[in-house]
Amino acid sequence: MKKQISILGSTGSIGRQTLDVIRSFPDRFRVRALTGHKNAALLSEQVKAFNPELAVLTDPDSAQELSRLLAGCSTKILSGEEGLLEAAVYPGTDLLVTAVVGFAGLKPTLAAIDAGLDIALANKETLVAAGKIVTTRAAKKGVSIIPIDSEHSAIFQCLQGNNPRYLKRILLTASGGPFRRHTREELARVTPRQALQHPNWSMGAKITIDSASMMNKGLEVLEAHWLFDISLSSIDVLVHPQSIIHSLVEFTDGSVLGQLGPPDMRLPILYALSYPERLSNTLPKLDLIGRELSFFPPDKDRFPCLAYAYEAGEVGGTLPAVINAANEMAVAAFLGEKIGFLDIPGVIRKIMDLHQVIKEPDLDDIFSADLWARQSAERIIKGFMS
Ligand SMILES: NC(=O)c1ccc[n+]([C@@H]2O[C@H](COP(=O)([O-])OP(=O)(O)OC[C@H]3O[C@@H](n4cnc5c(N)ncnc54)[C@H](OP(=O)(O)O)[C@@H]3O)[C@@H](O)[C@H]2O)c1
Repeated sequence: MKKQISILGSTGSIGRQTLDVIRSFPDRFRVRALTGHKNAALLSEQVKAFNPELAVLTDPDSAQELSRLLAGCSTKILSGEEGLLEAAVYPGTDLLVTAVVGFAGLKPTLAAIDAGLDIALANKETLVAAGKIVTTRAAKKGVSIIPIDSEHSAIFQCLQGNNPRYLKRILLTASGGPFRRHTREELARVTPRQALQHPNWSMGAKITIDSASMMNKGLEVLEAHWLFDISLSSIDVLVHPQSIIHSLVEFTDGSVLGQLGPPDMRLPILYALSYPERLSNTLPKLDLIGRELSFFPPDKDRFPCLAYAYEAGEVGGTLPAVINAANEMAVAAFLGEKIGFLDIPGVIRKIMDLHQVIKEPDLDDIFSADLWARQSAERIIKGFMS
């Protein structure tokens, strides 16, 4: 029987690579629902190629354009957040790939969990903002959350067949991004074009900037904390510029296991889709001959976003949702050339200092904190511009 897959964010980098994987296994997977935000041209091509029952663009004008492009096609087309939520719980889906970028992924992920669907999770911001609520609901519903992020896929794979009670430490590897060796003065002059050139990975714009600022690693620390139920003090970051070892786990006896592979997201995506099976494939294979693997400690002074994420995680409550929202706003402002690269941590720090943390937030508190942080960030960014 084919596994029935729906993808939220099929027009993005992870969404497109997920469809690449599915295209290679026509006997194993079938697509039920696809969603994007604005890219009607690409979603229309995807609908023609994969024939899903439902296609959604959250932007209403783009959804109208999609309807025009797909006139006469049997696929149902919806728009807006209601459409996204309908796709998230589309009947007959076995596995939902959450590859929307940012906080927009939280509501549909929760809807899918409440409907009892297993999740292949790329949208780390969901766990950053509301990790406790998401993991508690998933546990209650017996829903599996299988990580797509390469580091978390690596940890997940290393833990297979091992009792998690013997897990002592996680070593999350980080490429260090394009500015690993930049001084603060050089970082101050970085342009969006330079920051969008990741040395090892080709990804969407937001995560590429997050990688350059190391906020991505901070978000991943929080993601790992929730996914693997491990304290923040037991998660270390190791800069590994070659992105070959995708992460490591250390057990109580001192043994360390790692997962290696070329830097290609299709491998962790395939693992998440096929789990618990492993499928033979034609993806590039790892050749270690002549490769040098090196490791360095992260520099939290030059890349303070990483330290801010740890701090937010230790304080907990609404603070992680707030740094996530502040970061989304700051990254958008940087990409729009409204603020400089070093203003990204500057905006986040100011908002962290202003926020009055709610210690045990419910979902409404998380949404209010997110909105508050976005409004505050807008004001602070205007101040940085003047
Ligand atoms: N890319 C990677 O290699 C990678 C690796 C690990 C984890 N991740 C995580 O995966 C997630 C997606 O990353 P990505 O790089 O694939 O991002 P991306 O290329 O920017 O794609 C984002 C997707 O979300 C859609 N979208 C944007 N805003 C939306 C909104 N407000 N409501 C609903 N949908 C919206 C986009 O639609 P349109 O394109 O139609 O506008 C697109 O389909 C992120 O959480 C990221 O951290 C990515």
